[in-house]
Amino acid sequence: MGQNKFPKPIKKASLNNNLSHRSYASKIASPPKYILRAEDLSVGFSGKTVLNKINMDVAEYAVTAIMGPSGCGKSTFIRAINRMHDLDDKATVSGKLYLRKDDLFAASAMEVRRRVGMVFQKPNPFPSMTVAENVLAGYTLNGISLKRHEKEQLVEENLQKAALWSEMKDRLHDRGNFLSGGQQQRLCIARSLAIKVEILLLDEPTSALDPLATLKIENLIQKLKKEITILMVTHNTGQASRISDYTAFIYLGELIEYNKTKKIFTVPKDKRTERYLSGKFG
Ligand SMILES: Nc1ncnc2c1ncn2[C@@H]1O[C@H](COP(=O)(O)OP(=O)(O)OP(=O)(O)O)[C@@H](O)[C@H]1O
Ligand SMILES: [Mg+2]
Repeated sequence: MGQNKFPKPIKKASLNNNLSHRSYASKIASPPKYILRAEDLSVGFSGKTVLNKINMDVAEYAVTAIMGPSGCGKSTFIRAINRMHDLDDKATVSGKLYLRKDDLFAASAMEVRRRVGMVFQKPNPFPSMTVAENVLAGYTLNGISLKRHEKEQLVEENLQKAALWSEMKDRLHDRGNFLSGGQQQRLCIARSLAIKVEILLLDEPTSALDPLATLKIENLIQKLKKEITILMVTHNTGQASRISDYTAFIYLGELIEYNKTKKIFTVPKDKRTERYLSGKFG
């Protein structure tokens, strides 16, 4: 990692992607900085293309939502970023992914996961570990030993950041899987924050939660973007419009439209985006 220069802006300006440096720079004084770039990223399973040449830049310190009907390839996209298809013989992945200037496909999956956190739809705290051990899992699983006060500090700091400290400070030695669904989501977020990932991928983080737990996660995401970039899949268009800065609409494996969330929701450029937002499919 580290030898590759950050690539030039994508010339074909991914469809309606107004996020390309060129188009953006002409409109605002300081264009957003990009942390992640996908170039012609394609994924197929057993020869069938599921994601077709996605070109997309993800702005740093912002929330980017990925929307689209079921089966269009949203999870496949973020799973590819986290190298989840590495061990799948049926999967073929092509194209390029850069995190800052680093070619993610030239790095090991372990290196990638140290910098890119992923929290799944169904949160997965380690069931045999306590709340505190879950927060520290990134260290212990990598064989990094910590002093007692370092552990205590990491646990408190990251549970605070994940808006879970007040609920967990007396339950640090309970098993992680005894927590509620929303608490488990936040615990998994705390686990990623503890290893200081640069980007957090969330796959429908609130789809199984009640309105109050959903609100907590939404508030948390809004707060976290000050120190981390968030790329999240959501089925919930209301959620995308409430908490994201940018929205990408994927349909049948193609990136149809990608723009500032306000623009997508007020003046979508593609009929398919408009139909999706008005609930006509998906
Ligand atoms: N590991 C896999 N092996 C084979 N096919 C897969 C695999 N993962 C995904 N697919 C297929 O790829 C397509 C896209 O799946 P994906 O999970 O990315 O959709 P999605 O947009 O996240 O849908 P949903 O909103 O229902 O979660 C589907 O047809 C799915 O069956
Ligand atoms: Mg999915």
